[in-house]
Amino acid sequence: MQEREVYDMALKGELDLSREDVLDIHYGSRGAGQFFTPDPAAELLAGLAEIQPHETVLDPAAGLGNLMLPALKYTDKVKGIELLWDTAQLASHYLDLDITRADALEAEWPECDVILMNPPFGKFNGKPDWYPFKGQGKKEVAFLHLAMKRAKRRVVAIVPNSLLANRNDIPIRKYLLEKHGVLASISLPPKTFWKSRREINKWKWPVTGTHTGILVIDVERPPGDYNVFMCSPENVDDLPEVLCHWHKHREKTQATQKRRCLRHNRACLLIERDIQEHVRGI
Ligand SMILES: C[S@@+](CC[C@H](N)C(=O)[O-])C[C@H]1O[C@@H](n2cnc3c(N)ncnc32)[C@H](O)[C@@H]1O
Repeated sequence: MQEREVYDMALKGELDLSREDVLDIHYGSRGAGQFFTPDPAAELLAGLAEIQPHETVLDPAAGLGNLMLPALKYTDKVKGIELLWDTAQLASHYLDLDITRADALEAEWPECDVILMNPPFGKFNGKPDWYPFKGQGKKEVAFLHLAMKRAKRRVVAIVPNSLLANRNDIPIRKYLLEKHGVLASISLPPKTFWKSRREINKWKWPVTGTHTGILVIDVERPPGDYNVFMCSPENVDDLPEVLCHWHKHREKTQATQKRRCLRHNRACLLIERDIQEHVRGI
């Protein structure tokens, strides 16, 4: 049977396919152009988001749900938006994911607590009024802007490393730092999206050498003077360790916050006692 026929049957839901089959068939038919997040990086994104069981998670550029699947380990309220009909169709049918077919740069995003995303990178030509920067439009920046408006608690996003380092992108970094709390900036290993030859042959996964990073943004937190978790793991195998370091870092910062809060409460109590004594003394 020709590859195209298999793909058409898959789209009609006529085959019995595992997740690997779906990835294989999809990449085989569509080829390069969509770079799905490999599982170790996807697990890291979901872990960094600290998703609570009652929370709703959204991936506005869902692809075949590589970020939605690890999020489902933490909550069953996970939704996606995907531009391409066939991608959305395969993910909904064979992976049982809640994905709406729409252009996320035009459609209304559903309410959510957490946004996980690896948005498309590149030129954004038809810049609408809401796009926050002068100069050339970038799709990844448009997605970040909308995500920070839409998520109630946290945005965890893969971005091109250039956005974190290029001089031209200083206004974007300023905007991010001035609006919200950036909790972490992690540079991903250069070969994160570079599968081994064996895997390329088997799944025909497209590869890209684009250097990427992860931004963790706390949309509830005002900008301030606090520690940003930063690291640049060298190998994809190190990514689970990054999550362990992140958890330790979070425990430490939360303990410091608690101590500050206790000190603040103690100070309030002392002031209250002083006022009472002062009133009694009058
Ligand atoms: C880099 S892939 C990431 C897919 C998936 N989230 C993952 O991490 O594997 C980006 C996905 O966004 C989709 N996409 C591109 N432009 C979009 C748009 N305007 N609205 C919604 N999805 C879009 C692409 O078709 C592709 O599947």
